Amino acid sequence: MESQVIRIEGSDWQAVQGNDAWRAALEAGKVLFFPSLGFELQPEERPLLRPDVRDPGARNISLNVDGSLKGAAGDAATQALLAGMIGRFRQQALGLVDALLPHYTSALRMAPTSYRPMQVESRQQSWRADDRRLHVDAFPSRPNYGERILRVFANVNSDGVPRVWRVGEPFETVARTFLPKAKPYSAWQAKVLQARHVTKSFRSEYDHLMLQLHDGMKRDMAYQQSSPQETVPFPAGSVWVCFSDQATHAVMSGQYMLEQTLHLPADHAYDKEASPLAILTRLTGRQLV
Ligand SMILES: [Fe+2]
Repeated sequence: MESQVIRIEGSDWQAVQGNDAWRAALEAGKVLFFPSLGFELQPEERPLLRPDVRDPGARNISLNVDGSLKGAAGDAATQALLAGMIGRFRQQALGLVDALLPHYTSALRMAPTSYRPMQVESRQQSWRADDRRLHVDAFPSRPNYGERILRVFANVNSDGVPRVWRVGEPFETVARTFLPKAKPYSAWQAKVLQARHVTKSFRSEYDHLMLQLHDGMKRDMAYQQSSPQETVPFPAGSVWVCFSDQATHAVMSGQYMLEQTLHLPADHAYDKEASPLAILTRLTGRQLV
């Protein structure tokens, strides 16, 4: 399998300029990897690199779009430092996306920015929630009708510990493997899920199929072990960008990461035929949203 990771040199956030080849690679589900584009911590932010800055009841620390901080422990000064660090990363991530993908800028919808101080490999989870298994992102409670999930990640570990991913096959190959095994969609069931508030809105057939792919991959241990894949250690001081609803990924290990999620309308791409919605629509021959 051709590598699904595109390495892009350069250490200056301001100097990054997108090009057609990188955009096409990203929209084909590949990961854009900037090995030397580090997110610099201020000296006073270094003490924030410890797991107990997180509220034990929260999965991550997040800075909401309105600037409020969620999931943090510690006193007011610690919380202000956290908000400052995460907010600065948000600005850099937005600037990077704007430079790489200027056509997206006006259409992007910003999601909270997160700081993940926990060690990945120590988490105990059910198979469905276990992100150490290859998957594409799909969320059971939040149907998105094909809206894209674009993510910018930065490994800010100060001890040189990489964040290790496995990156798997292209989306269309995954879809061709797992669509035939997918449970059929039921609009009636989707109505029940919505009425019971299991989903925040009506689950479309697209959302159903994305969950079927997510679960189908994670459930299949033979696929996990033997499907074409590469192990990618993203070093401390690096940044990477991908559509996590399309790039097949598994998060194996690492600690201390910043992450920005941006949502893009399904039809607002450089190549409108490359999105998961377009691919699933073509493969099923049906309108899915
Ligand atoms: Fe994921």
